[in-house]
Formats: sequence, structure tokens, C-alpha cells
Amino acid sequence: MGSQEKPVEKIVVRGLEGVVAAETSISYVDGVHGRLYYQGYDIHDIAEQISFIECIFLLWNGRLPNRRECDEMRNAIVGEMKLPDAVLELLKASPEKSHPMAVLRTAVSLLSCFDPDADDTTPSANYRKAKRLAGQIPTIIAHLHRLRNGLPLLTPRPELGLSANFLHMLTGNIPDELEKRAMDILMILHADHGLNASTFAARVICSTLSDMHSAVTGAIGALKGPLHGGANEKVMGMLHEINHIDRIQEYIEGMLENKKRIMGFGHRVYRTEDPRAKHLRKYSELLCEKTSQKHLFEMSHRIEKIVFEQKGIYPNVDFYSATVQHALGIPAAYFTTIFVASRTPGWLAHIIEQYSDNRLIRPTSKYTGEMGIPFVPLGKRG
Ligand code: ACO
Repeated sequence: MGSQEKPVEKIVVRGLEGVVAAETSISYVDGVHGRLYYQGYDIHDIAEQISFIECIFLLWNGRLPNRRECDEMRNAIVGEMKLPDAVLELLKASPEKSHPMAVLRTAVSLLSCFDPDADDTTPSANYRKAKRLAGQIPTIIAHLHRLRNGLPLLTPRPELGLSANFLHMLTGNIPDELEKRAMDILMILHADHGLNASTFAARVICSTLSDMHSAVTGAIGALKGPLHGGANEKVMGMLHEINHIDRIQEYIEGMLENKKRIMGFGHRVYRTEDPRAKHLRKYSELLCEKTSQKHLFEMSHRIEKIVFEQKGIYPNVDFYSATVQHALGIPAAYFTTIFVASRTPGWLAHIIEQYSDNRLIRPTSKYTGEMGIPFVPLGKRG
């Protein structure tokens, strides 16, 4: 290879760790101090105080709503919960064993074909689509679960509020006060989290001036992986596999010796406790106790202690969200879809923010292949 053919030397930042790839005012993750801010509010100050509707309004508008604005937002989103017939048919046609995340990803993509504003990326059209997606995604999840279990499909009960209504449409139960609060907090805590992998994927897609549905579809694909949102389902699998508190020490040591990841632990940004885990730990305990499954909380707590002793790492949002969701009656296969419904408002806020000051996101790579290989025509190759 001639010297003129050598690629320019480049430094690769693996996993883009520490790379600042966007400006945002939506949320801030302070990994050193273990703090999370939504539009300037510390998550510890608002998580127990606001509803999921207030949280959505905050992420989309940069301020908390008054009561009238809350009602308007709730009615607008609930008013958009009905699905096009073709999307319902897709849910029915999906192979029973296919993962709910795969069906949800495909259904969101199909929604774009029926959205009257599909390719309109003006701010007003984007706001209408955001409300539609925030309403339709929970319906897809609830309907899919009920169709697969031969249960009647339920219509929204707006008086329950967004998150409790979603839980009702999924499980068929009317949640009590503790369950309502837990579902709200679960969804609030998952609503946004800086430039995480799925949010970055969404921003990359809309930076090409592609449409909102494409960006959300891509984000769902990114969230599905076990290193991101897919970890919560795996946590429940781990708890079932361990099965007894006396087996935890041996199980965790075995995993670590074999260099395997403990699902629901570790984080790219937090170097201390994930602030979301603190709230979810509390609701895991309350709900496991209420549903006579205290052993699941006790096992989780013991796993937390042992992983910290052995490896010095903390649980992330996915760890206690598993037992919270399980105790709320949500099947494990749907855990990551609940994450999608919760994170959708955050993705939408980032998509709108990206459009408002767009520059194509197009990094570069360090080429490690060869150059200048002599060409041999097809007929002359051995
Ligand atoms: N179990 C065991 N060891 C772990 C774990 C874990 N869950 N997480 C990190 N480590 C260890 C690594 O083995 C490594 O140790 P070493 O230095 O002795 O080799 C060290 O911690 C640093 O790990 P990295 O891979 O460099 O951390 P990275 O920032 O790339 O990974 C990630 C972050 C992917 C979240 C990782 O912690 C992980 O795989 N966790 C399990 C999956 C999970 O829970 N994902 C959900 C994350 S939260 C969210 O996305 C919603």
C-alpha cells in the first residue's frame, strides 16, 4: 500500500463513552453524585409528587402544568388511544411466541401508515403525533397481552389517569391507591434519561429529517437489548432461576467467576447509586409485601448486597422495576414494553428538540481494513 493510501490516524472512543453528542435541556444525569434532573427538577423532589401526565407535560413544555393543562393533556392523549383496525389485525396475526417487543416495534412502524401527519415534521404536526403515540403505544401493549390470553379488550378509563388506566387496560384490575402510585412512579422514573442508547438512536434517525414514527421505531429496537431496557425481564428470570435466598451467594459468585453480567446492575454513567433504584426499591418492598411475595424483595435485596460486596456495583433502574412490575400483575415478557410506554414521552421530547435545531448526526470511524488490493475480474478468481 502506498503512503498516500494510508487512512488518517483517528482515536476511537469505544461505546462513545464520555462523548458529548448533543445539547439538551430535557434531562440531566449526574453520574458522580447519583442525581437525575427533569427540566431542572431533581427527580427526588418530583417523583412522589407529580403524576405521569404532569411528567409528560414537563418534558414536552419545560414547565409543570396547571390543573386545566393537566386535564387537557390527559384528555388529548386518552382521546388518541384507539388503534387503526390494521394495527389490531397485526397484533392478532403476530405469532404467539414472538416477543411483545418485536410486535410493538412493528406495530409502531405500521401506525405511521395511518397517521394523517406522518411525514409532516412541522412543530404543530409533531406535537399532534406525539400525543397520538403516547396514547396508542399503551393500547398496543395492553391489547396484545389480552388478545394473546383470550381476554376481552378494554376501553380507556380516563378518570384513572394515564398510568393507572394503562395498568387497568392491561391487567383488567382497577388498581388500588398503592398500585396507582407505584405505576405512576414507575412510569415517571423511566420517562427520560439523558442521551441513553435508545434516545440517541431516536435523535440519529430524526437528524436525517426522517419522521417521528421511524425515530420511535428505531428507539424501541435499541431499548429491546439486554444491555439497555431488556434487562428488567432478565432480572425476573434470574430471580426464578435462583429460586431461594440460600442459593444467592453461590449463584452470584458463579456468574462473576464466569465473567457473566448480573442483569439490573451497573451503569455507563452512574458511579454511585442510580437515584431511580431508591424509589423502586421502596415500592418493590411495599408491593411484594402486599401480594405475599416478600421473598422476592428479600432475594433482590440480598442480591444487591452481594453484588456490591463482590463487585462494588449498584443496581440500576431495571433491577427493582422487575419485582415492582411483577407484583403489579404484569407478565415478565411485557416488562420492557412498559419501559417503552414510559420512555416514549422522553423520546418524543428529544425528537422535537432535535428537529428544532437540527444538524445531521454523522460520526466517522477508524478504518482497520486493507487498501489498494489489486482487482481480479470474476472469471479469473480461483
Ligand atoms: N455484572 C457484572 N459485572 C459488571 C456489570 C454487571 N451487570 N456491569 C458492569 N460490570 C463490570 C464489568 O465486567 C467491568 O468489570 P472489569 O473492569 O472488572 O472488567 C466493569 O464493571 C465496567 O463495565 P463496562 O462494561 O465497562 O461498563 P459499561 O459502561 O460498558 O456497561 C452496562 C454498562 C452495559 C449497563 C453494564 O453495566 C451491564 O452490562 N449491565 C447489565 C445489563 C443491565 O442491567 N442493563 C440495564 C442498564 S440501565 C438501562 O439501560 C435502562
